[in-house]
Amino acid sequence: MEFTFNFDVGVETSDEPVAVLKEQAQIKQDLTDSDTTTDGPKVGVKEAREHHPENVTHILENTVCETLNLGTLPPIQYLNETVVEKTASEHADDEDILSQSTALHSDLISGVYEGGLKIWECTYDLLTFIDDNRVAFAGKRVLDLGCGAGLLGITALKMGACEVHFQDYNDTVIERLTLPNILLNCDDDTDSEDEGSSPLSKRRAGEQQQQQLAMLTKCRFFSGDWTCFLQLVLDSELQLQYDLILTSETIYNTAYYPALHEVFHKLLAPNGLVYLATKSHYFGVGGGLLLFQDFVQQKGVFDLKCLKKIEGGLQRHVVALKWKTSD
Ligand SMILES: C[S@@+](CC[C@H](N)C(=O)[O-])C[C@H]1O[C@@H](n2cnc3c(N)ncnc32)[C@H](O)[C@@H]1O
Repeated sequence: MEFTFNFDVGVETSDEPVAVLKEQAQIKQDLTDSDTTTDGPKVGVKEAREHHPENVTHILENTVCETLNLGTLPPIQYLNETVVEKTASEHADDEDILSQSTALHSDLISGVYEGGLKIWECTYDLLTFIDDNRVAFAGKRVLDLGCGAGLLGITALKMGACEVHFQDYNDTVIERLTLPNILLNCDDDTDSEDEGSSPLSKRRAGEQQQQQLAMLTKCRFFSGDWTCFLQLVLDSELQLQYDLILTSETIYNTAYYPALHEVFHKLLAPNGLVYLATKSHYFGVGGGLLLFQDFVQQKGVFDLKCLKKIEGGLQRHVVALKWKTSD
């Protein structure tokens, strides 16, 4: 299946900045006009739920995986996207996002499918940033927000996070992609060639299952839109707060900014940090770093600091949000 990267295209040319500025000015006006202080988003309709993985033994059967080796980060196994797409029709998909995104040749259908089945470019930027800056995860509680394939959260797990929660808009993404990817990364002994029904391979299968279960006890999985997700977490028995929130390519739609900001506001621990990776502008959808920066500034809750700019085609950025200090 050929996906159209419908807001991912575009190289900055001399004409585009004018169009971008006009689009941003209009959106900024709309954002100012709408009451974003209390109501949350005007869009986002998907109920949230927590997924409790059960009977994980067969999830990885007949899957094809790849390995990402990036700098000095621990290798990450993940499902091959093309195989996931090509075999999608063999499985029922309650949300019907696979056939809809295929039919519309689109990576994103606002309010229906928010793009989690593919790995977006800025995920690699944030992973590179984590590696270059030796971001510390040991003992931290981490949220991979808008996780898609979950590579950020998996890296946090492998680097010693004590707990990692994965959130995606779509149930299908959590069940078909995020969860299998976590299971793929539970077995450190990837070099073993022992396959078959010997006592040794049975013992290894048992050990792998133990490792998967141990890893899963550190994870929680949520689907649904950010407003509902936040409510679910706030209503839950645990007063959850995250030391680190990792999020990549999640500020493309300005209509979601109030809900996104509210998640940061309510769920970031007092000394916590949000690392956000983004393109400077999302053509066709309209969001981007400048508008988000303005939104954050208007809210007056967080300081936003640009940590890294990646040139080449459309500019990309890694930024951090931290609580404003009173001084
Ligand atoms: C473009 S995808 C990026 C996926 C992944 N972070 C990556 O970089 O590969 C955007 C993600 O943000 C999440 N998302 C976007 N809008 C959302 C909303 N209003 N509520 C909940 N999740 C949302 C979706 O889960 C989706 O997977």
